[in-house]
Amino acid sequence: MEIYSLAERPELVDAFLSIKGDWPEFMLHDPTSDRAYESAVAGFPELHLVVMDGDVAAARLHAVPFAGAVEALPPRGWDHALQRAEWLLASGETPDLRTISLIEARVALSHRGHGLSGRLLQEARQRYAALGCRDLVAPVRPTRKSLEPGSDAMEYAHRVREDGLPADPWLRVHVRLGGRVVGVAPLSMVIPGTLAQWRQWTGLPFDTDGPVEVEGGLTPVHVDVAGGHAVYVEPNVWMHHDLR
Ligand SMILES: CC(C)(COP(=O)(O)OP(=O)(O)OC[C@H]1O[C@@H](n2cnc3c(N)ncnc32)[C@H](O)[C@@H]1OP(=O)(O)O)[C@@H](O)C(=O)NCCC(=O)NCCS
Repeated sequence: MEIYSLAERPELVDAFLSIKGDWPEFMLHDPTSDRAYESAVAGFPELHLVVMDGDVAAARLHAVPFAGAVEALPPRGWDHALQRAEWLLASGETPDLRTISLIEARVALSHRGHGLSGRLLQEARQRYAALGCRDLVAPVRPTRKSLEPGSDAMEYAHRVREDGLPADPWLRVHVRLGGRVVGVAPLSMVIPGTLAQWRQWTGLPFDTDGPVEVEGGLTPVHVDVAGGHAVYVEPNVWMHHDLR
């Protein structure tokens, strides 16, 4: 398998975008991602990596230039990083690559469970360091948190196994490669919808006020029946890789 950036192989952009995910439907309706995800792919091709297994796209990594102190990372995590990338592209400013934020790693369903995510992340660390990056940050979506949406996000982020590594498998991949849990981005992704939209996205009735657990959600959705809307506020885990 070979790893390329989209700056090296611009013709692989369709292969990059073609990798299917298994996000729950509601996750595909984050207004910030809808606007900014694909424009960041086109705008910062040197930060977007694709793993090719022959002619098949096996995995991809999405990242954007970032700015901000590592010890004061913003509560709006993913949405903040994408919004900033959108602003940077609109302004025409030359990106400062001393700090980069990962947005998403995605391994094709056919290639999961073989350690590809770690290989990709390691490659990203090396390539970004070569571009001048000193701090690689990431609003990480911990993959197993959806199994316990009621648990506290901060406690989950810092939960470790007996060997001291994170209990969550995706956080563990980061930490093994030198990442460090900085804290929680409590408002990383905010997905509002009408009750009709939420019913369509989840198949649930959305007919009572309060928290409702939905499949794949890291936390419950907040429902306001009289107001006719519901909002999902996803916490992510801010991770830092010191690339100096
Ligand atoms: C998260 C993801 C990138 C991991 O990619 P992968 O290459 O299949 O994962 P790996 O084979 O490298 O395994 C990573 C760790 O997860 C563990 N793992 C893999 N699948 C698992 C599962 N279904 N349940 C529990 N642990 C699992 C592995 O054992 C490994 O941990 P270990 O090294 O301590 O044993 C991939 O599952 C994916 O694309 N998911 C959808 C998108 C996503 O959630 N991205 C991350 C947030 S942006």
